[in-house]
Amino acid sequence: MDRRAFLAALSGALTSACVGGADVSTGSSADPTVTTGASSSTTSTTERTLVAPLEPPPGELPEGVFGLGVASGDPDGSSVVLWTRLVTDEAGLPSAVQLLWEVAYDPDFNELAATGVTDVGEGFGHAAHVLATGLPSNASFYYRFRVGSLTSPTGRTRTLAAAGQPLDQLRLAVSSCQLMETGHWAAHADIADADIDLVLWLGDFIYGGGGSSQLEGRAHRGSDPVGLAGYRARYRQYREDPLLQASSAAHPWMVTWDDHEVVNNYDATVDPVRRAAAYQAWWEHQPTRLAAPGLDGFDVFRSVDAGDLCRIAVLDQRQYADDTTLLGQKQQDWLAGELANDQRWTLLGSPVLVGGLLVPVQDEVLLPYTFDGYPDERKWLAGELAKQPNRLIASGDLHSAAVLEVTADPADLDQPTVATEFMAPPISSEFPADFAGLVGFIPLANPHVERVDVVNGWLRLDITPDRTTAEFRVVADVSDPNSRVASSGRYEVVAGDPTPVEL
Ligand SMILES: [Fe+2]
Repeated sequence: MDRRAFLAALSGALTSACVGGADVSTGSSADPTVTTGASSSTTSTTERTLVAPLEPPPGELPEGVFGLGVASGDPDGSSVVLWTRLVTDEAGLPSAVQLLWEVAYDPDFNELAATGVTDVGEGFGHAAHVLATGLPSNASFYYRFRVGSLTSPTGRTRTLAAAGQPLDQLRLAVSSCQLMETGHWAAHADIADADIDLVLWLGDFIYGGGGSSQLEGRAHRGSDPVGLAGYRARYRQYREDPLLQASSAAHPWMVTWDDHEVVNNYDATVDPVRRAAAYQAWWEHQPTRLAAPGLDGFDVFRSVDAGDLCRIAVLDQRQYADDTTLLGQKQQDWLAGELANDQRWTLLGSPVLVGGLLVPVQDEVLLPYTFDGYPDERKWLAGELAKQPNRLIASGDLHSAAVLEVTADPADLDQPTVATEFMAPPISSEFPADFAGLVGFIPLANPHVERVDVVNGWLRLDITPDRTTAEFRVVADVSDPNSRVASSGRYEVVAGDPTPVEL
């Protein structure tokens, strides 16, 4: 196959298989969440304070109401969000339920750091989002929920080092894209076992479509979701998976979205009622400190500082995109402010590719929904990134693992590299099998692309003041939930030099 045919085929396969477009809608921003903990303090501390236990609220709920497990997320230097969602296969749950939540220093919950009672109700699918505050910084905790005689699984979580606090390492897992029909989630088991501080999730937590799978028990239940009930059911099916439950319970997560949280390639033509249903279901199933989506919109772009070491900012490249902008003016203005920081490193969590893939055929853009479709915006972003000393980009979406040197214009070989981009491999989504063997052509036409591998797995980032090390963790057999997961490819970015070096 010649290059033109290959690229045309690749383009068609990519756009139909996984990747997405654009959309409208605007939003409010990261307000503190729904329920606040018993103790409260916004200042950083390393002191352990103990609180007295509370009795679980009475309630006779069916066994299995904690069947979606627990998760935590959006940590900062003194707080973290605790999540669960009550479910039942029986007649239903009371319209309002009170849950006890506990955060402890020990797995037996003898030494409580914070506790309280939160209300959950049918309006938000009996989802709980508790902001546990007043916690020591850069510390580990156990947490759980209780009602009546029932207790949830125990989760582990961490706070970050408080902004500005000296920090000598930050360990991240990065991934995206977990179409359950094409694989099991051994990658999640490996993330669960990893010694990391935070999971950075870059989108495609669920996929739409009706059900079929070569793998037993992996077919989607129900038809393509379009309303709240359908999206809730799809998230429920995904969150019933024990390996996703393991990685969710093992570490705090920072979650953004891509297109499949609504529908493949969604754009401004998608019914706003459908988008609103998808956004609400996303919120109900993620451990985020964002306030629930309301009538004034739903901004999910946000950032957090880990000590004095790294600012992490996650982007939304679907909701605001149109013919003229990928990020939208509001998000661009916010991002410019986020990039002007005093942190040692800045890490952008970008659901879609930043560095670009060149197509050596005039007027063809392989991935028009990425920055390749918005070259002026990439120039702007590169200029903003260049103002900071050490910048990293983690991305997803293309169902492969990649390393790129990001410049203002990938077609101009004289442009300096402003950042290294690591594309995290997908948990279980497939690169189109017919074209997997042709991926080797990409670096030939793209000198700024160091590597592309069609694999499943996740990306580990170890950030220290002097250097960041990236390691691809690769699943040997995505059809096997017990698959071996092993390292395949390690790179280093040394502070002061944006160019990646293979180790
Ligand atoms: Fe995907």
